[in-house]
Amino acid sequence: MTRILITSALPYANGDLHIGHVSSTYIPADTYARFCRLKGYDVVFVCGADEHGTPISVAAREAGRTPLEYVDYYRERQLNDLKALNISFDNYYRTHSEENREITEHLLLKLRENGYIYQKEVEEFYCEGDKTYLPDRMIKGTCPYCGAEDQYSDACEVCGRTIEPGGILGPHCIICGNPPVTRKENHFIFKLSAFSDRLYEWLKSDETGENFPKDVVNYVAQWIKTGLQDWDITREDYWGFKLPYKDAKKNQYVYVWFDAPIGYIASTINWSKKKGVNWEDYWKREDSFIAHFIGKDIVYHHFLFWPAVLMGTEEITLPKKYVVNGYLTLEGLKMSKSRHWLIPLNYILKRYPADYVRFYLAFKAANTIKDNNFSWEEFQERINADLVDNIGNFIHRILHFINNRYDSKIPEPSNFDNLDNEFAQLISSIVDEISAYYEQCDLSKAIKRIIESFKFANSYFSAKEPWKTIKEKPEAAGTTLYLCANFLRTAATLIQPIIPQSAEKLQKYLNIEPEEWDSAKELLLKPRHKIREAEPLFEKIPKEELEKEIETLEQQTKQTEKKEKAEIEINEFNKLDIRIGEIISAKQLQGELIQLVVQTEPNKQTTIVGKLGGSYKPQELEGKKVTVLTNLKPRKIQGIPSKGMLLAAIDGEKISLLVPDKDIETGSKVG
Ligand code: 2FM
Ligand code: ZN
Repeated sequence: MTRILITSALPYANGDLHIGHVSSTYIPADTYARFCRLKGYDVVFVCGADEHGTPISVAAREAGRTPLEYVDYYRERQLNDLKALNISFDNYYRTHSEENREITEHLLLKLRENGYIYQKEVEEFYCEGDKTYLPDRMIKGTCPYCGAEDQYSDACEVCGRTIEPGGILGPHCIICGNPPVTRKENHFIFKLSAFSDRLYEWLKSDETGENFPKDVVNYVAQWIKTGLQDWDITREDYWGFKLPYKDAKKNQYVYVWFDAPIGYIASTINWSKKKGVNWEDYWKREDSFIAHFIGKDIVYHHFLFWPAVLMGTEEITLPKKYVVNGYLTLEGLKMSKSRHWLIPLNYILKRYPADYVRFYLAFKAANTIKDNNFSWEEFQERINADLVDNIGNFIHRILHFINNRYDSKIPEPSNFDNLDNEFAQLISSIVDEISAYYEQCDLSKAIKRIIESFKFANSYFSAKEPWKTIKEKPEAAGTTLYLCANFLRTAATLIQPIIPQSAEKLQKYLNIEPEEWDSAKELLLKPRHKIREAEPLFEKIPKEELEKEIETLEQQTKQTEKKEKAEIEINEFNKLDIRIGEIISAKQLQGELIQLVVQTEPNKQTTIVGKLGGSYKPQELEGKKVTVLTNLKPRKIQGIPSKGMLLAAIDGEKISLLVPDKDIETGSKVG
């Protein structure tokens, strides 16, 4: 029997899930899992929370909680939302678990034994102002590969590349914006470069292009050709798994991306213990079929790091299938957590049935890295036109007709005419067509074809006019309703992976049990079979509702913007000691930094280091009267203590110092 292990990317347990997460990963994976179960395959669908990593330890510290309290909280919330969306995981586990620790340690030891781990001195970023190591996500800068600015130091969102520690250009601390200093530490490195040839060969092994998306294969092959960098798997932290090597330092932890995909295995092990089966049947057999569902931002990790680790340990079977989807924009704009430009899953699921959300998002998921857009207007359009007017309307027309005119019993068919034959033919052929789309995880095509078939069914019913023929030619009307009811039976199976709750209701009205995929091809709803009283399955989304959604979305962002600039009391402003100062001397430092000595009171001077070099030359500054915040806590910038800040207007790259409009004494207070 076909045995399939399906995984969907483990979400970081550090916030609520939003529609972007589910459209790229969980809905495609769930649809595939449901389809495979209907086909009768032996399916295990696993996921769990990704709980390690410095962004989480940093966020927990800021929130005043332990990392474990922090991830427990979000894991629970995420799981509830995924359940509300009817994502049918067989197991939802976590990376901070004994199963994961055990296997991660085992694989790390094995890799070292096999000669794939070596030690190297690595420069670590450290912010002297904030007195902390700055892990990946606390540093931003310019991508060394494509030149995109404002990227986190470990990955570029624009070109999708992973950036090695120290590789980011123009690094700056995300807390204070200053350039960090570097400190040397001995790190453990995974020899990714040793796997280039094997990875290349494996990547090209999917000759038909059915299981590895072609566009992804092409750009991963390009990465391999341009040369793979070895992978630093060590992080200075206080949370995660400690490196299992005797010569590792106490604060050296396993990089989150090393143990995250191992979490797929840990989740399977945890599931297998509950079921009393052998997890190795899914992960270690030659014929194990492992399918990963991911968003396009984590291609590098899943197509290079992960298979290379598996190759290096020689224990686990390599993945056989990948489904990669692009990002989701919202009303044409990139989603943003900080600006609150997103739709949390728990928000949309409180207001609309899970099937509406699944239907619309599946409509967009075509197993391609092309980005998609969510728009409330289109959401309403798809629900009202496709789900209500087309699919729902046909279902209701037929069930209602049989309830009322045939005493809820499927009528007897008679001879088929051409149109009847065409409809019967559609019922048997559409099942294989949709099957192929589900195999390819092209949900968009599957839904479009299902919609088309309902359109055909609607026009068949209208052309046949059974409300007239029931009196004049009752046997013709019987055939029409018999075929329409059988079409509904088939359709219930076809829509099940996408809108499972509606499929279940339809089967309940038809008074049938859920059925195997292949039986959907046949006309198995027999004359005299009794159906139940039916209610409409879907309801339209009114226009006012839509307007409210758009307003809520806009309000959310505005409120966030307001929050960022919350009102303050006058006494808070009075805490600032702002004065007119005079620049005594100015000296150019590295980059755009200028070191200034500023007279802030007749007998008081202070040193200030500022990023003015892009707009001013040191000699233009000397003698200038400027506005200075004098009581800012001292900070070290590039090793130089800096106390105070010059007030300036900033317009992109341009900086304009605020200078007094009339001649005024140095030390005058500003307020
Ligand atoms: O990018 C992310 O959101 C990661 N948490 C995905 C991890 S997938 C897997 F490797 F665990
Ligand atoms: Zn800093």
